[in-house]
Amino acid sequence: MEPPSGKDSLPVTIEESVLSPARMKLLLLCLGLILVCAQQEENNDVALRNLDISKISGEWYTIILASDVKEKIEENGSMRVFADLIRVLDNSSLYFKLHAKVNGECAELSLVLDETEEDGVYSVNYDGYNVFRLSEFGNPDYIIIYLVNFNKDRPFRTLKLHAREPDVSPELKNEFVEIAQKRGIVKENIIDVTKIDRCSQP
Ligand SMILES: *[C@@H]1O[C@H](CO)[C@@H](O)[C@H](O)[C@H]1NC(C)=O
Ligand SMILES: *[C@@H]1O[C@H](CO)[C@@H](O)[C@H](O)[C@H]1NC(C)=O
Repeated sequence: MEPPSGKDSLPVTIEESVLSPARMKLLLLCLGLILVCAQQEENNDVALRNLDISKISGEWYTIILASDVKEKIEENGSMRVFADLIRVLDNSSLYFKLHAKVNGECAELSLVLDETEEDGVYSVNYDGYNVFRLSEFGNPDYIIIYLVNFNKDRPFRTLKLHAREPDVSPELKNEFVEIAQKRGIVKENIIDVTKIDRCSQP
């Protein structure tokens, strides 16, 4: 009999093996809320403010994408999607019309984000389960969307800057980059999409 080696007996997969998918999902959800709450605390010292959701309806442009898993915002990545329109529905859910490049062609996509119990926080199933926080950035013409995605792999985070105009000042972009870096997203994972085809209005 060989003595158990520390390396071989590391309980790395214990959660996956003993937790049912439902419990796992609940755990991940809790983790997501913790991340979202942590962000809210940090918001106190930057230009982020709670959004007046009644002002969000209308046209938007995606300016910058950032993610701790870069392939999600690179070509063919599920989070490489560009906002066109947001509307507040009668039941307080948010309707998003988006575009993405699929096989080189612009494809339309729509998502309905449902409210959660927390102000400004929404959820939607898309490439897994997503928890979204929407914040105003400086003024109501700019919003930052912070989302945590849970799919069968590790949770990942994506941060997006949206604006009412197709482009914004370099100062504002720099400020956004700093915010993303404070959230632990490295500079190489922050993509300015203003110079690429966002499949916006034909
Ligand atoms: C709100 O309405 C939209 C559109 O009818 C629907 O897709 C969505 O599921 C509704 N949300 C809730 C929480 O009922
Ligand atoms: C994206 O998908 C298209 C079509 O499947 C493919 O031709 C292209 O090489 C993919 N790009 C990347 C970066 O994977």
